Amino acid sequence: MATSRRLGRLGRGVFDRNDRRKQAYRYTSAGTDALPLVDLSLGSTDLPPPAVALEAIEDALRTPESSSYCLQAATRPFREAVAAWSKRRFGVSVDPDREVLLLVGSQEGTAHLPLAVLDPGDAALILDPSYPSHRGGLVLADARIERLQLRQEQCWRPDFNALSNSKWDQLRMMVFGFPHNPTAQVGEQSWLAEAMERGIRHQVVVAHDNPYVDLALEGDAPALLLCPGWREWGIEFFSFSKGWCLGGFRLAFAIGAEPLITALRELKGVVDFNQSLALQRGAIAALSDAPDWPQQILEVYRERRDRTLAALGALGWHVPCPSMALYLWLPVPTWAKQQGFNDETLAADLLDRTGIALTPGSGFGSGGDDWLRLALVQPVEDLEAAVARMGPWWHAHI
Ligand SMILES: Cc1ncc(COP(=O)(O)O)c(C=O)c1O
Repeated sequence: MATSRRLGRLGRGVFDRNDRRKQAYRYTSAGTDALPLVDLSLGSTDLPPPAVALEAIEDALRTPESSSYCLQAATRPFREAVAAWSKRRFGVSVDPDREVLLLVGSQEGTAHLPLAVLDPGDAALILDPSYPSHRGGLVLADARIERLQLRQEQCWRPDFNALSNSKWDQLRMMVFGFPHNPTAQVGEQSWLAEAMERGIRHQVVVAHDNPYVDLALEGDAPALLLCPGWREWGIEFFSFSKGWCLGGFRLAFAIGAEPLITALRELKGVVDFNQSLALQRGAIAALSDAPDWPQQILEVYRERRDRTLAALGALGWHVPCPSMALYLWLPVPTWAKQQGFNDETLAADLLDRTGIALTPGSGFGSGGDDWLRLALVQPVEDLEAAVARMGPWWHAHI
């Protein structure tokens, strides 16, 4: 059956091929002596969510309201909890009725926003590399995509001057995200300040995807809410998936300029009936009773980062030290390039020979070519064991 050309443009490419390889490995290794799959290719944590959140969900599950459709008005307690969190976390007061929106995951928000603010053919800017829903949402909205390349030589700092003034004038939207997946760099507040300043000057919507706001290992994570001007042109996306380890529950929210929140809410009105009230209760408990959960898990990620980096270094794989939790961003080694590997073929070879799955960087855009992402989503001993498993593979190649 013919599907839309838009869907074709979306493409599945690298990630799809990597997923198929993982499935094939699982299938062929089951019941054999082959090493079991160690999946370090997804940012889906093994760490537990706060018990208060799970208890609140459990308590609310059997109430009839939790099985009913949830209209916007019923999300007010959640929006009030978000407003209280914003005041506590950033010192920023927000209007729970007009500046806060519940989302079914922040990915849903960044993917839907372009449909709410862009017309077909409008120009929008993303970082390259960047999280796939940033590009994906723009493709679904038939936007014209411009890219701002992030480069290691520039410490992954966006070079705003890489775009001419006339290009800036043509833009209608830009999507940023620091702390940054996949490069694992926290980034700086001044980068967002410049994005916001350009947004106001050139009348460009600034969407900032910030699910890792509480997961900086070095320095402070930037936030768009701290930039004067967000009430005019900005919207920021936050999530319960990373800091509160509730990824499977699909809970997130946006705080932003009233016209953007209204537009996204209207768009979502034809798509969903919000998240279940029971899950919202869990989210409220996380924000109100376990606001420090993300800080508590930082030490776990720090140990995982440091010991995995040390193990890779002992192997000869020298990986830059990331400033945020959850990921390592590994350069394709020189020997691999000399042997004709790129990030995708190297990830495939590693998986076939060791059962370890990493993410090919090119799946995040051409700026990720020749990089691999490793997610620190298993206990530290298992991460070290995975690197030890890489040893024979590494030495057989060099
Ligand atoms: C930058 C970024 N945005 C959004 C998401 C998805 O978050 P959520 O589970 O809230 O949809 C991820 C997940 O890895 C991410 O890295």
